[in-house]
Amino acid sequence: MEFITLNNGSKCPVIGIGTFMLAPSDAQNSVREALKMGYSLVDTANAYVNERAVGRGIKESGLRRDEVFISTKLWPSEYENPNAVEETLERLGLDYVDLLYIHQPAGNWLAGYRQLEKAYKEGKAKSIGISNFEGKYIAELETKWEIAPQFIQVEAHPYYTQKELRKTLDKYDIKLMSWYPLGHGDKGLLKEPVFVELGEKYGKSPAQVILRWHTQMGFVVIPGSKNVDHIKDNLDIIDFKLTDDEMDRIAQLDKGERYYHRTDEQLKQFAAWRPSFEPAN
Ligand SMILES: NC(=O)c1ccc[n+]([C@@H]2O[C@H](COP(=O)([O-])OP(=O)(O)OC[C@H]3O[C@@H](n4cnc5c(N)ncnc54)[C@H](OP(=O)(O)O)[C@@H]3O)[C@@H](O)[C@H]2O)c1
Repeated sequence: MEFITLNNGSKCPVIGIGTFMLAPSDAQNSVREALKMGYSLVDTANAYVNERAVGRGIKESGLRRDEVFISTKLWPSEYENPNAVEETLERLGLDYVDLLYIHQPAGNWLAGYRQLEKAYKEGKAKSIGISNFEGKYIAELETKWEIAPQFIQVEAHPYYTQKELRKTLDKYDIKLMSWYPLGHGDKGLLKEPVFVELGEKYGKSPAQVILRWHTQMGFVVIPGSKNVDHIKDNLDIIDFKLTDDEMDRIAQLDKGERYYHRTDEQLKQFAAWRPSFEPAN
């Protein structure tokens, strides 16, 4: 496994497994199988309503706590809940998380960020992050944070490489974790001729070439999957390296087009919604 060093000196694996839209049983299976086959990074969120299942998957993997890097996110409904971090840890069955994000720039997100800073100081979050903070939101947060985040998690893939945002990230050495790294499974992206051609050259699938591109861009990738063969393939991407010319060819695909367009109305809805957390057994 390759690791990336964060601006606080911590290390994070460059490949992990995402669990967005995975029902609890699928999340539990994917996490257990991924950890058993060599993954160590797992990404979940309050809003995925599978943190308990992720916790079960981690336990069933048999790995020690210090062998896994667990990332989760507080949802806006939790930003003003003083017990949000403790409740999140309880659901995961952990004493600390390796990375804690605020999920959306919605509701009282500054209160949410203050919770992250507090959790960081108390050792309950070894690193902290922001998710979906682009443009004016990161500009405002930048003037208010006491502790700069280690990570930002945003949509990123060869069609949308976050060029503008990366200028701010470079200033603070904030690492980018890509969501929708495979375009949420978009066949158009997976069938791009350049990925098919490079896949044939290196004996890899187009998806593996795309994931390798992310890591060579300096991004951490967390492809989601409930297919064990895909989970295995997605880890098997560090025994080849794309050349500078190949990276340049892939850069031509950046059309500034994203899959997900969030509106101000949606941010209001996010602030008003509270996940129906899985009950404790
Ligand atoms: N912060 C946020 O707001 C936010 C938003 C979205 C996602 N995320 C995070 O980012 C993670 C990744 O995003 P995502 O899961 O939505 O999208 P993704 O990783 O881009 O794509 C997942 C899709 O690709 C397919 N897939 C996975 N590996 C494949 C392979 N090797 N070959 C072909 N198809 C493959 C999966 O199907 P199979 O199950 O059949 O493999 C699934 O349909 C999430 O799981 C979540 O942790 C965060």
